[in-house]
Amino acid sequence: QIRTGGKILQSPCGPIIHGLEDVLIKNTSISDIDGDKGILWYRGYRIEDLAQHSTYEEVSYLILYGKLPTKKDFEDYVSRLRKNRDLRPETIEVIRNLAKAHPMFALEAAVAAEGAYDEDNHKLAEALRLGRYKAEEKELAYKIAEKLVAKMPTIVAYHYRLSRNLDIVKPREDLSHSANFLYMMFGKEPDPLAVRGIDLYLMLHADHEVPASTFTAHVVASTLSDLYSAVAAAVAALKGPLHGGANEMAVRSYLEIGDPSKARDVVEAATKPGGPKLMGVGHRVYKAYDPRAKIFREFSKNYVAKFGDPKNLYAIASAIEHEVLNHPYFQQRRLYPNVDFWSGIAFYYMGVPYEYFTPIFAVSRVVGWVAHILEYWENNRIFRPRACYVGPHDLQYVPIEQR
Ligand code: ACO
Repeated sequence: QIRTGGKILQSPCGPIIHGLEDVLIKNTSISDIDGDKGILWYRGYRIEDLAQHSTYEEVSYLILYGKLPTKKDFEDYVSRLRKNRDLRPETIEVIRNLAKAHPMFALEAAVAAEGAYDEDNHKLAEALRLGRYKAEEKELAYKIAEKLVAKMPTIVAYHYRLSRNLDIVKPREDLSHSANFLYMMFGKEPDPLAVRGIDLYLMLHADHEVPASTFTAHVVASTLSDLYSAVAAAVAALKGPLHGGANEMAVRSYLEIGDPSKARDVVEAATKPGGPKLMGVGHRVYKAYDPRAKIFREFSKNYVAKFGDPKNLYAIASAIEHEVLNHPYFQQRRLYPNVDFWSGIAFYYMGVPYEYFTPIFAVSRVVGWVAHILEYWENNRIFRPRACYVGPHDLQYVPIEQR
């Protein structure tokens, strides 16, 4: 098993902050986390408030533009998003060619393909190369950011359709972001509770300060590459099971466990040295119950109350949670369920295959990625850390025949 080591590693050059834990990379006004109390704010608003009263369309505006929209601004924004949903034919071909691959690979490639042919993207990248980032360029950057937010669900839904040899279902402008996503996936009017579930999920994942994927987006954007490439790189980082891939892994593990009575043994095994980590448990920042997980636990409960829990997923997750919360190993390390622990259950019962869970995470988080990039470009500096070299120097080159 890959071990994570300690927070500080010693090296001949000085201490290494392993995994950059707690290292500050910039000032931000996008989101804030109180990891000790388990609180998350977007642009100053508590996540619970937004989850109760808002929609992903509004929350994405808030994250991108820094304030809640007026009615007029909101209508214009929503109308622009809805008009921007479809993909160019070249991108659809890329998705078709990767129809049998995991959708996260297709998402990475499709985002890059969409950017490769977007004139606005090239215009902006060229201006940045020349050192210009003024009102005109910022307008272009926001335009591209909106396109990315609008198109991500379409990439994921088209991949789902093509992977199953189904015709793609074109986006409908009369449907909300979340309703249209489910409509493009399944080709029929979605159930309102399922729409609410997707919308809630998208709101709860829209931003989370600078986790690995958002940091990756900063690193790529700091080189003045381009917005789409930075997002494609962020998708690649999100794919890992230690990050966005955990929701897929969590549901897979519930399916494998199969019965709530096995929860105690599974949790016990995770406490042994070298034992498998419990997916959806623990967090680099939260040392309390993840506030998003609380909201999704409640939603999952309501969802299975309406539609049933034939695979025992909710029952198994509840049993694991009970063991985790009462086990000294998890208590001492302050490990609690994170958002991924609960988020996949309703998806599974909606008929969303689990390999699409992480892509849906990306559909949401794209707005956080682009908002952070635009914030960083206000004061850009290329990321270039150092490593402490501990190998030999000045070795004598030996020709291959003499080795
Ligand atoms: N199951 C069992 N033990 C765990 C778990 C877990 N899920 N998570 C952490 N631990 C243990 C570690 O083994 C370590 O124990 P030790 O002190 O005896 O060596 C201790 O808790 C500290 O864990 P680290 O891995 O050092 O914590 P870190 O901050 O590096 O990692 C992470 C956080 C990656 C989220 C980790 O908790 C994990 O792997 N969890 C499972 C995967 C997961 O759910 N990822 C989703 C993250 S949230 C998101 O991306 C939306």
